[in-house]
Amino acid sequence: MKNPFRYGIIVDEPFFINREDEQKDITQWLTTKQSIVLYSPRRYGKSSLIIKLLNQLKKSGYHTVYIDFFKVHSKTKFVEILYQEILNTLHPWEKTIKQINQFVKKIKPVISFGDDGNPLISLQSSDSMSDISEVFDLPQKLAKDKPWIVVFDEFQDVAKLNGDSFEKELRAALIHHDNVAYVFMGSQSSILQNMLTHPNKAFYQFAKMMELKKINKDVMVKYVSDHFNSTDFNINKDDAKNIVDIADNIPHYVQYLASAVWETAIESRMVNSNTIQTAVAKILNNQLDYFSSMYHRLTSQQQKVLLALSTESKRIFTENYKKKHNLSTVSTTQRIVERLIHLGIIEKESGSYQFQDPFFKSWLKSV
Ligand SMILES: Nc1ncnc2c1ncn2[C@@H]1O[C@H](COP(=O)(O)OP(=O)(O)O)[C@@H](O)[C@H]1O
Ligand SMILES: [Mg+2]
Repeated sequence: MKNPFRYGIIVDEPFFINREDEQKDITQWLTTKQSIVLYSPRRYGKSSLIIKLLNQLKKSGYHTVYIDFFKVHSKTKFVEILYQEILNTLHPWEKTIKQINQFVKKIKPVISFGDDGNPLISLQSSDSMSDISEVFDLPQKLAKDKPWIVVFDEFQDVAKLNGDSFEKELRAALIHHDNVAYVFMGSQSSILQNMLTHPNKAFYQFAKMMELKKINKDVMVKYVSDHFNSTDFNINKDDAKNIVDIADNIPHYVQYLASAVWETAIESRMVNSNTIQTAVAKILNNQLDYFSSMYHRLTSQQQKVLLALSTESKRIFTENYKKKHNLSTVSTTQRIVERLIHLGIIEKESGSYQFQDPFFKSWLKSV
């Protein structure tokens, strides 16, 4: 019997639920060549959503490109992945390569073949990467029968490429691409800050901002119940709700905890508050060293604010909150919260503050 929960990977049905409205809106925008910025904290389901959409769009004949900037550690790598994605979407590949060579003069791809017989692209180290504007223009110039959909995931990682000039060149090129819809994805703090503070505001107007929110809580609770039930486990609604609550209803952590609870309850097939507690304890135990070192790297003032946040996360910049949690001035708390956001420990979530990792919060409560 297989665990009915999945986490840490791109998911599709039956592990992917909801998001119908988002799918409709995004499809509508992209097919009318409206570029978007899709942002949310990590692990809300951005990549899963966009991959699902790309698969659908491919079936409808759109040319799609997906580039995860996590994997792009150099300009050369960027070009390689872009070429590869273009070859995967345009057929026959021989013709595509000829076209690429016709548009890009300075860089010549080397082709080899994988075990499956599909062409694999690599570049020669002698290729100059000083000006790759021709490369940026490829989707716009190739196959104009249907619009292109180009996705840049984890776009904040563009900073690794000595971001500024690469990003500038990219932006300069793509505002002229009227046959391509772009999707920039990443977390709010980094991407948005970068785009809004950028001197070239034209770019900000070029793309529509869309925040991916959490999945409705009742829907998530039902998912948890249904998936336990599908493997003949018993779980009542309160316990399913409890799992979602402990995970702060963050899709990844809901599936992570539910998966651990499933493993814990595998013999009795009965989920109750004890099995949930045991699963949480196991998770915390596994991450003890990690949480503890993260905590001890913080200053004592930061630790104090974090401990306060672990028990109460609303109206935190008030005199009342300050007194109750024995904090320094409100302005100091504000500064510390900014810092904790910058460190990726907490994030802003509809007017309140939440931990990026709900288990770090659970661990702090036990400190
Ligand atoms: N629509 C969904 N329904 C159920 N679980 C989801 C959904 N989207 C994401 N998840 C869960 O969240 C995890 C992280 O998803 P991912 O798409 O990688 O998020 P992001 O790209 O925002 O970091 C997945 O492995 C899965 O466990
Ligand atoms: Mg992602």
